[in-house]
Amino acid sequence: MRKLLSALASSVLVAGAAVAITVAAPVAPAIALENGLARTPPMGFNNWNATHCEADFNEAMVLGIIDIFVNQGLREAGYKYVNLDDCWAVPAPNSRDGNGNLKPDPVRFPRGIKFLADYAHARNLKLGIYTSAGTKTCNTIGFSGGLGHEQQDAALFASWGVDYLKYDNCNNQGVDAQLRYTTMRDALLATGRPIVYSICEWGRTGPPRVWEWGKNVGNLWRTTGDISDNWTSMIGKAQFNRGLPQWAGPGHWNDPDMLEVGNGGMTGTEYRTHFSLWAIMAAPLLIGSDLRSVNADTFTILKNTDVIAIDQDTLGRQGVVISNDGAGHVIYSKALANGDRAVALSNETTTTATMSTNVNAIGLGGSSSYTLKDLWSKVTSTTSGTISASVGGHATVMYRVSRNGTTVRHEAESASFTSGSTIDSNWSGFSGTGFVNTPNATGSFVQFTVNAAAAGPATLTFDYGNGSTSDRPVSVSVNAGSNGTLAFPATGAWPLWKQQTLNVNLNAGTNTIRLTATGTGGVANLDYLDVTSSSGGGGVVHYQAEDANIFQGVVESNHTGFTGTGFVNGDNVVGSGVEFTVSSTAGGPTPVKVRFANGTTVDRPMSVALNGSTVLTQSFQPTGAWTNWVEVTFTLSLNAGSNTIRLTSTTVNGGPNLDRLSVG
Ligand code: GLA
Repeated sequence: MRKLLSALASSVLVAGAAVAITVAAPVAPAIALENGLARTPPMGFNNWNATHCEADFNEAMVLGIIDIFVNQGLREAGYKYVNLDDCWAVPAPNSRDGNGNLKPDPVRFPRGIKFLADYAHARNLKLGIYTSAGTKTCNTIGFSGGLGHEQQDAALFASWGVDYLKYDNCNNQGVDAQLRYTTMRDALLATGRPIVYSICEWGRTGPPRVWEWGKNVGNLWRTTGDISDNWTSMIGKAQFNRGLPQWAGPGHWNDPDMLEVGNGGMTGTEYRTHFSLWAIMAAPLLIGSDLRSVNADTFTILKNTDVIAIDQDTLGRQGVVISNDGAGHVIYSKALANGDRAVALSNETTTTATMSTNVNAIGLGGSSSYTLKDLWSKVTSTTSGTISASVGGHATVMYRVSRNGTTVRHEAESASFTSGSTIDSNWSGFSGTGFVNTPNATGSFVQFTVNAAAAGPATLTFDYGNGSTSDRPVSVSVNAGSNGTLAFPATGAWPLWKQQTLNVNLNAGTNTIRLTATGTGGVANLDYLDVTSSSGGGGVVHYQAEDANIFQGVVESNHTGFTGTGFVNGDNVVGSGVEFTVSSTAGGPTPVKVRFANGTTVDRPMSVALNGSTVLTQSFQPTGAWTNWVEVTFTLSLNAGSNTIRLTSTTVNGGPNLDRLSVG
């Protein structure tokens, strides 16, 4: 019931956006892609790496993959699009019927493409198709392409229920790439159907190169030529693609090509590196092996939900290289929505090496204790700052690194700031709804109000972007005292965000933290302040939602990544929810975290009542997938002793899936 309603809500939303763009006739060309899709990198399947044009690319294969997505839990792990590549049509010159419509190959696809789309949709999956922005597709057999047929082909795909188009670059007749890809973008938008648009131009033409114009045209774009199922090819794609992080973000991704995991040309270690690097680069995860015949290890890799969560993280930043010794030892870091970092220690040599970095290098410094979770071995350890591992040849060790203590996020857009500042959203990768851009002047400021549960030391982490070539220094004051300076050095590009930390002492209760620009550039673009306190003793106590009092909801366990034994799925009504009974030794302002997942595209707010009185309404924004769990934090003034905390949905969508409440 809940899933059905959410599916309806999301399709209405997206269709609404598309109609708004295309309602006028004749259709004015859109200047940007505004299809609302691919907020996290697309996940799914494409047959090409497994079959190329061979005869086993057929209906049985596509239906078989869809069934495996459902039966083997891949759908629940986030894989959604089942995509057909080249050779699905009748070869030219007979690719089109008397009306000019493309004809599916009757041997491969006797029941046509709509049958496949219906089969996928009935299982809550999506179907994708392929053609080329040329007169013919890429395969030498020769299948008609979309150049000059954009409207007709887009309309045909939409009529079949297609949800994703990969648009290739072969036989393009030398027509300008931007023009060809933009024409198809507008044709897709004009159908009114939400269709993810994958540009397959291989980074071939320009300048400007496809990543420089791709954001306005497609949801993803190939940055390289075709991948092959061997180490040299795969690592070459990673080496090129990792140089382009500033161009990726929600709705627009660099695509280093489809996965080869499971095709047999690399070792399990190399496939783990492949999957890890694609995840930390926020690349599309399109399975390219025939899942009907792969080994069990392939499923272990493809279903590693900890690694998938790095790829699908809702902040949408492509990880960056923070260290490369030029001899094959490369360290990547990716900032995550909840303030954690993913780190990949990747050994491109054939010799085992000890590889090391530290929490300062990944922007997470300032604290005394951090948790490292190895996302492949699942071993959790604690460090005071060093991140180090012995990494085998061609292996990658991947960690999720969290700062211990309690972290509360303060979005800059909710702070106060110099008049004349703007809340901007033009550079992607920001947390919340935007970032603050102050006037370029000495004295520009951003001021946060921070509530501390107890007096004591705290670490301030500022997330900022500085695409200029100079520092944007600030002085930092806490409660009007001078507490130091931060340089906010250039980050390389405006959509490349970095962090600087500062240790301060906070008072119990309200604190004022103000950044004042000491240079004429003003404050750097400021995204958020995370305040971490490790003081106060007591520690955090977790309360599982499945153990709480549930109102109009059920305990489920079908979406991986929850803690405890399950999560609570509330009914899609106003008033469903959960009530926790928690205890506090001292009482007073206490951080309360809610861990949740919201796989829809709309907020699912809940009111929060403490001891019977509603004190706030908390939004629970989409997390990208039901398997993506994130935490939100608010502060409640608890009584000493026992307290009830009740979360109640305020819309007919119900609340998100609730995993647990953490207090302290
Ligand atoms: C090109 C693309 C590949 C694949 C083939 C199909 O080479 O880059 O990904 O789609 O065409 O012919």
